[in-house]
Amino acid sequence: AGFVTPRLLRPAAATGELLTSEVPLPRPFQVPLPLPPVLRPVSRDGGVDRYEIVQRASTAEILPGLRTPIWGYQGTFPGPTIESRSGRTTIVRHRNELPVPTVVHLHGGRTPPESDGYATDLVLPADGRYLSSAGHGHSGMADPDAVVTAGSREYTYPLRQKAAMLWYHDHRMDFTGPAVYRGLAGLHIVRDAEEDALPLPRGEREIPLMITDRAFAEDGSMRYPSLDPSLRTVPGVEDAYAAGVLGDVLLVNGAPWPVAEVSATRYRLRFLNGSNARRYDLALSPPPPSGPAFTQIGSDQGLLDAPRGHAHLPIAPAERYDLVVDFGAYPVGTEVTLVNRLGTGTSAQVMRFRITHRAKDESHIPAKLSEVERLDRAQATVTREFAFRSGQFDGRHGWTIGGEAFIPTKIAAQPKLGDVEIWRFVADLHHPIHLHLVHFQVLSRGGKDPAPHDAGRKDTVDLQPGEAVEVIARFDGYRGRYMFHCHNAEHEDMGMMATFRTV
Ligand code: C2O
Ligand code: CU
Repeated sequence: AGFVTPRLLRPAAATGELLTSEVPLPRPFQVPLPLPPVLRPVSRDGGVDRYEIVQRASTAEILPGLRTPIWGYQGTFPGPTIESRSGRTTIVRHRNELPVPTVVHLHGGRTPPESDGYATDLVLPADGRYLSSAGHGHSGMADPDAVVTAGSREYTYPLRQKAAMLWYHDHRMDFTGPAVYRGLAGLHIVRDAEEDALPLPRGEREIPLMITDRAFAEDGSMRYPSLDPSLRTVPGVEDAYAAGVLGDVLLVNGAPWPVAEVSATRYRLRFLNGSNARRYDLALSPPPPSGPAFTQIGSDQGLLDAPRGHAHLPIAPAERYDLVVDFGAYPVGTEVTLVNRLGTGTSAQVMRFRITHRAKDESHIPAKLSEVERLDRAQATVTREFAFRSGQFDGRHGWTIGGEAFIPTKIAAQPKLGDVEIWRFVADLHHPIHLHLVHFQVLSRGGKDPAPHDAGRKDTVDLQPGEAVEVIARFDGYRGRYMFHCHNAEHEDMGMMATFRTV
């Protein structure tokens, strides 16, 4: 307590801008697809798996031949993947060896409030040098309820939830964008018996794919237009911040436009859009001669009730899709490109799959995947409405929820523990909205039925410009304060975040 979090809200900037790299870009589909390393627990006793992660500065060869300074969990980007069993408690001790305070949030985790990574629950750098915002040129924001720790912090994840691909990332108030951009993001896969029993592709035929975009400066550093001099790598460039930062290099698992060799069989591809602000519309080129390009088996929070075919899929920041692609539908030798239908130039292609050989395939996609409890309108005790809009406050430009920029001491909603509520979101522009603690179902989009990609248990929903979306959720799990916000990281940092308290 008493720690003052600097505010980053900045003067008006009208439009966002694509940051272009100042270095020659590599030819696509040359770098083999990397897989983030799976972190080993330091112990597995009494139903508890313990992990230790050091957050530190390091360098990575992201573009061939260039050293890029990064901030990484264990010094890598993406950070190591944690694999947990549903219902087994995972405890992760994070030590902050970075020059700035950090906050860790397990996105999609059903987590007690003290471990959820509330934006002011800072972990101060272990070297003790970062004492206050003094010298950073920002106004401050005091939060008497913040629990600030020095050097390290233990995060406890009971994981009483279904199998799903979650992710962990930095969540410091007003500074999430630059910290995640520099590399503070990793996957956390939760598994359970229900999923294990299904004949889905597994082992090396299950591939997590974290898609991000970045731009690179001449010296190899990532270009980022932060107002904070300690975070900025592009002096004088601040305009791009307002709409969200877009880079011209697409990375999958931290590698530019990578290539993966696959057999002519089914693969389970688990997508995360880990980008700060870029949305993608994924498709395969060429499309398979028969059958859908993607068979969706899961959403943000785990398996669907039944598989659904898609020719293409939009994916907004923080959303996940669990997909099966049948490379057996193509002749051996085919090169299949994962394309981004929303991209132009360098952002139109994501990665490539090279089908190198035939192999035996025992997997299949069952017609029934999981039991998904449907929440019904009639169960809801209350409907709340939140508008996500560009706004002015303190005479400056930012992003607001219900006309207000994030203030930690202000509570926007107090759902009763166990209650079902409908939250209606309206938006001026694209905003991917994320709720902590709960998962939800999309009830309606633009006054109509949900879109095909809205199916399943979700924790993030992409609002289209001018559109209203209703979601329904049961607010159970833990009492305490949690955030909801736009997951465009720059919108989030510029105020588009609010607090709800389960009571
Ligand atoms: Cu992915 Cu509030 O976070
Ligand atoms: Cu937004």
